[in-house]
Amino acid sequence: MEIIIQPDAESASRAAARVVARLLREKPDAVLGLATGSTPLRLYQELIRLHREEGLDFSRVTTFNLDEYVGLGPDHPQSYHHFMWSNLFDHLNVNPAQIHIPDGLAADIQAACAAYEDKIVAAGGMDVQVLGIGSDGHIGFNEPTSSLASRTRIKTLTPQTVADNARFFEGDEAKVPHHCITMGIGTIMAARCVIMLAFGSGKADAVAASVEGPVAAMMPASVLQHHPVAKFFLDEAAATKLTHAPYYRWVYDHKPGWQHDV
Ligand code: F6R
Repeated sequence: MEIIIQPDAESASRAAARVVARLLREKPDAVLGLATGSTPLRLYQELIRLHREEGLDFSRVTTFNLDEYVGLGPDHPQSYHHFMWSNLFDHLNVNPAQIHIPDGLAADIQAACAAYEDKIVAAGGMDVQVLGIGSDGHIGFNEPTSSLASRTRIKTLTPQTVADNARFFEGDEAKVPHHCITMGIGTIMAARCVIMLAFGSGKADAVAASVEGPVAAMMPASVLQHHPVAKFFLDEAAATKLTHAPYYRWVYDHKPGWQHDV
């Protein structure tokens, strides 16, 4: 794992955007795994800026989103379809036919999940997967006790995640769907590179447990310790509980030039 601690969420997001931009310049038809929530917004804003100001081309890119709420259609303002179009896709030259987001209204959810997995495989797998982390350590909506080998399926949100996400639903927990379709942990682990973003003190415990604690289904993001190319982009607040933070900073500051991709 590579732990990159930046002064704030803006600089951490810009550093993460440089990894994505470099990938796209080397491989214009890259497959991107994308996340929603508040955390990746600055990354997406930077990718939009790079597209507008530096011509970063998304025309050949394929995307797969991590998850979607069951029962919310694409027009629902809190659906992840709506989120992705308004915060990213509407501002880039991505081919709409190449955009994939789980269907929260699928009549046969199991079949839709299996088809989603098949599409990821057919596209060649994700080159990079962007992740946020839940305060309980979830990635995608793989809540604690999720199988570390799981694939795309329906999951039930924990009460903590429902409470965390109520802020997007006028603060009303009753409006938060309890079920979602999410890529599995095995699906995420198959990505060739993982970019984890975590900002704010509310993520500090989950980040420390994931990076420095034991690998455990109770802390899903800890599975990234098994990933060969997992990069954590943190702001200072999210890094406060890391006991080896000085070492991570030293490593990053002394990275050999040839290795510097951020
Ligand atoms: C979103 C997702 C979730 C979020 C996590 C953090 O697609 O899969 O795992 O990344 O819940 O959410 P925020 O960024 O809102 O704190």
